[in-house]
Amino acid sequence: MKLWGGRFEGETAAELAAFQNSLPFDQRLWRQDIRASIAHARMLGKQGIIPPEDADRIVKGLESIAADLEAGRLAFPQGEAALQVEDVHTAIEGWLVERIGEAGKRLHTARSRNDQVQVDTRLFLKDALAGPDGVDAAAAALQRVLVEVAERDGELLMPGYTHLQRAQPILLGHHLLAYFWMLQRDRERLADCVRRADACPLGSGALAGVPYSVDREAVARELGFARITENSLDAVADRDYLIEALAALAIIMMHLSRLAEELVLWSSAEFGFVELDNAYATGSSIMPQKKNPDGAELIRGKSGRVFGHLVALLTVCKGLPLAYNKDLQEDKEAFFDALDTVRASLRLMASVLATARFRGERMAAAARDGFLNATDLADYLVRRGVPFREAHRIVGQLVRYCLDKGCRLEELSLEELKRFVPAGAVAEDVYDTLELRNVVAARNVPGGTGYEQFRRQLAAARQLLEEVRTGRRKVGMTGVE
Ligand code: ARG
Repeated sequence: MKLWGGRFEGETAAELAAFQNSLPFDQRLWRQDIRASIAHARMLGKQGIIPPEDADRIVKGLESIAADLEAGRLAFPQGEAALQVEDVHTAIEGWLVERIGEAGKRLHTARSRNDQVQVDTRLFLKDALAGPDGVDAAAAALQRVLVEVAERDGELLMPGYTHLQRAQPILLGHHLLAYFWMLQRDRERLADCVRRADACPLGSGALAGVPYSVDREAVARELGFARITENSLDAVADRDYLIEALAALAIIMMHLSRLAEELVLWSSAEFGFVELDNAYATGSSIMPQKKNPDGAELIRGKSGRVFGHLVALLTVCKGLPLAYNKDLQEDKEAFFDALDTVRASLRLMASVLATARFRGERMAAAARDGFLNATDLADYLVRRGVPFREAHRIVGQLVRYCLDKGCRLEELSLEELKRFVPAGAVAEDVYDTLELRNVVAARNVPGGTGYEQFRRQLAAARQLLEEVRTGRRKVGMTGVE
């Protein structure tokens, strides 16, 4: 069936039919399409735009189609047969007319596929991002894993890095919770995107609105939208909400990719900080000894395609004249693929992390080498009256001395230290300061890695998760109070 054969003579070229066919991918919208059509038909009946009996028939017909699709008694045509059906809207309307006859032909009154596809996609997006099986839920699950691992192994010492050079000792939990807060911001972005997408475009028609006394508010309410769109041209031409979603998804992938990169590094023999579970690592077809972090690598790799989808849709929309243009059909594959990729990546990352074993002795050994307490020695001298710049220079010389000697700062004798330091500025208690656990504990500033602050941060993260989960707090605007 075709929705627009009237003014045409002859057939559409098979080549174009295939080229423009969106059924293989937009059939994913069938639940939303049927829901929206039911709301539309009810409204048409109530407003007397179509006979109420026809509206009832349409609703029943659509419900039976939904039930049959759900149960697998009805399936979308595939291959050659799919070419006879342009898109999901055509397929469903076709079935409806098959089932209920003439009344089915009244469904498309006061509607265009241009506003129809927008209502479907917005409904889909709300569920895909914020629904029980959505991206937000997957992000929350990963946050929970981060909190659990931080709870279990969080007080293990490890080197913190800048420039990938050992810098100062930190707690593993502090490092892991950094990702918790990234994910919190991700969840805020998703919530924000859903809030903006939460407007019903039905009634916009093809572009200019419809010349019937439709009740847009009623349709919006029935479909659970917070409001209606304000401008019909904007409503059918707008893909901002998908671009925003893709941007939020791309940022999630960027975060996951950073974490994945760290897991790849940390599971190497060079670092040896983590041992991935055998269930989440793979082997080599030629090198029998290999254990590879493929999952983490693929998450890192898949960030590329999600970034690509964002740029693709931005490019599709750039330069499009108002209002609807068929170019916009390109939005769906980009969004669906990004969605599937991000959801699967979040879930896999949660499993990889939950089953990984952190090797405390290796991390501590790495933290002991590399003068990670040098800053604290300088701060010690500052507390005893040496200007910081001078203290920095002195400790630099001590580090060079240790490098020549092949020892650590804490292995120098008090006599050796005194040779470099102004009289009276160093005493026996310097060795306490140089102790790595004390170096960490000293960072007892809110947001710092100090034990006390780490525990506070962990409790705050737990509480935040719980409050959002139980609805006591909205996910938006939570991360940075
Ligand atoms: N499949 C189309 C899309 O995804 C639906 C809207 C088609 N509208 C039209 N006038 N051809 O954008």
